[in-house]
Amino acid sequence: MQITLTQPDDWHLHLRDGDMLSAVVGSTAAHFGRALIMPNLVPPVVTGDDARDYKARIEKALIDTGSNTAFKPLMTLYLTETTQADDVVKAAKEGIIVAVKLYPAGATTNSSSGVTNIDKVMPVLTAMAEHGVVLCVHGEVTDSDIDIFDREARFIETVLEPLRTALPELRIVMEHVTTKDGVDYVASAEKNLAATLTTHHLMINRNHLLVGGIRPHYYCLPIAKREEHRQALVLAACSGDARYFLGTDSAPHTRTTKESDCGCAGVFNAANTMVCLASVFEEANALDKLEAFASLNGPKWYGLEPNSATMTLKKTTTKTPIPERIPVADDWVVPFDPARDIYWQVL
Ligand code: NCD
Ligand code: ZN
Repeated sequence: MQITLTQPDDWHLHLRDGDMLSAVVGSTAAHFGRALIMPNLVPPVVTGDDARDYKARIEKALIDTGSNTAFKPLMTLYLTETTQADDVVKAAKEGIIVAVKLYPAGATTNSSSGVTNIDKVMPVLTAMAEHGVVLCVHGEVTDSDIDIFDREARFIETVLEPLRTALPELRIVMEHVTTKDGVDYVASAEKNLAATLTTHHLMINRNHLLVGGIRPHYYCLPIAKREEHRQALVLAACSGDARYFLGTDSAPHTRTTKESDCGCAGVFNAANTMVCLASVFEEANALDKLEAFASLNGPKWYGLEPNSATMTLKKTTTKTPIPERIPVADDWVVPFDPARDIYWQVL
């Protein structure tokens, strides 16, 4: 069996910078036409000029590493409490960025410059609503008294719903949704709301992370939830509903920084996402919906044409190996282990 789809895009990707960028960019460029590049560098990508410079570094890394130069990075800005509305609107109008990313301060890796109180960024969000600039949100509250497994649901209630009521014209993507609450909330919205789903949250639950020993390479944010939530995510991804699309949240960290007494959050799945998704959609009897999820719904939301290239995935009789470790300086990145046998390959 084999299936051919429009070439996919990745609507949430961390490429980092420097040695790490060079090490990982080829994994995404080999399969994807475009990716929405997250701005959480240190220091973050905050202005239109920063985004233009970062894009140039990514394009240079594609050339220097002999990667597929047809791959297009689509840039985002990191929303801070000093972001200027004019700069955002200008960068969007000039086509330098396609979205702005909201990180609640302290929510995840490199988010210390994030927003402490949404009221402080209302002028920028108002301008974005007016000019149709998309807001991508890391949807978790960060209050120390809120349990880590409840942070997404609480964000919907206390931040997202009030924001959507205040600015109904603002187009929002709830990034890497990990709960039934999240997909249900998106399903209930009449307009201007979509969600990305990651490869790993479609495949692992919190038992994979914690039972039989702690697995640092499954630790990411938002943290993997109960199995019933994973099942709700699979149903959403496989529904064909145009509001759900792929954002891998592939987030490389070196092995040493993950396998540590305070390990970093992030799963590196860029190299095997498409074979993993084929397996998930096959198991859900929904292979015919994979193209909508990975290749069509995202461009539709962003008002772009789907890619003109195609990708063919083939069912195999021998087990697909987990991609080899990716060397970075004197360390390496450990690719995502999907915790099940995969029998698919990208031709
Ligand atoms: C991301 C990273 O490492 O930059 N980590 C993660 O666990 N997903 C940040 C993020 O998207 O939350
Ligand atoms: Zn991310």
